[in-house]
Amino acid sequence: MRKAGLVVAHTLLRIANEAGPGVTTADLDRIAREELKRAGAIPSFLDYHGYPSVICSSVNEEVVHAIPNERPLIDGDILSVDFGAIVQGWHGDAAVTIEIGEPIEEQTRLSNVTRASMWAGLAKAQPGNRLSDISNAVETTIDAAGEYGILQEYTGHGIGTEMHMDPAVPNYGAPGHGPELVPGMALAIEPMVTLGSRHVRTLADHWTVVTVDGSRASHWENTVAITEEGPWVLTELDGGAEYFAAHGIASPAASRD
Ligand code: MF3
Ligand code: CO
Repeated sequence: MRKAGLVVAHTLLRIANEAGPGVTTADLDRIAREELKRAGAIPSFLDYHGYPSVICSSVNEEVVHAIPNERPLIDGDILSVDFGAIVQGWHGDAAVTIEIGEPIEEQTRLSNVTRASMWAGLAKAQPGNRLSDISNAVETTIDAAGEYGILQEYTGHGIGTEMHMDPAVPNYGAPGHGPELVPGMALAIEPMVTLGSRHVRTLADHWTVVTVDGSRASHWENTVAITEEGPWVLTELDGGAEYFAAHGIASPAASRD
């Protein structure tokens, strides 16, 4: 899973570097296909329930699962790119939010709080914690930052030999519930947060999830392994070493590739 995670991490970094005004999300999909080929990896998303691309590229009021298209991105867009890869049968799944052109303060804050809530959840991916400790850490981080909408219809998930496995990992809820976390589990933690209401609907293409009120959204995701020595973020280049060191959390990332 670390091999798959690194393919995902490298690809999302390249996409974040190349995305900008005038670039299309179809261009970004082609970049992801190139990286898969280079790595000898298989896309997780292509043909998943008939999904037609290797990335999801959700712009502005699109929250998740939007299909790449030939519309050029413009200054001020907020773009979430979700990408998954399979290496030797094992999956990695991650998403990043990218601001196109000049950052807009409100959107930067939205992306930052969504990302911070993901990390708060990742930090709880520890043996002995319960699943909903992750959910609660995500929710309380967002709630403490202001008035944001947290999607309830979509959740994080277990991941391993398939992209979506049990258990679902909601981005809200009281702590102390659900299965105990034990070494060997792997989870995808993925808050989806809006500047307005949490309510969403799916477009006629059967994929694109948009906010009902048209408010803009952010999606961040990482795949994390629960180990005896703490969380190991498989879809980050450094495994989460920098974040966990800064927050005083033990992690095997510091001593692994
Ligand atoms: N990667 C998404 C998730 O984080 C699922 C993508 S659905 C697909 O769970 F159809 F695009 F694959
Ligand atoms: Co996922």
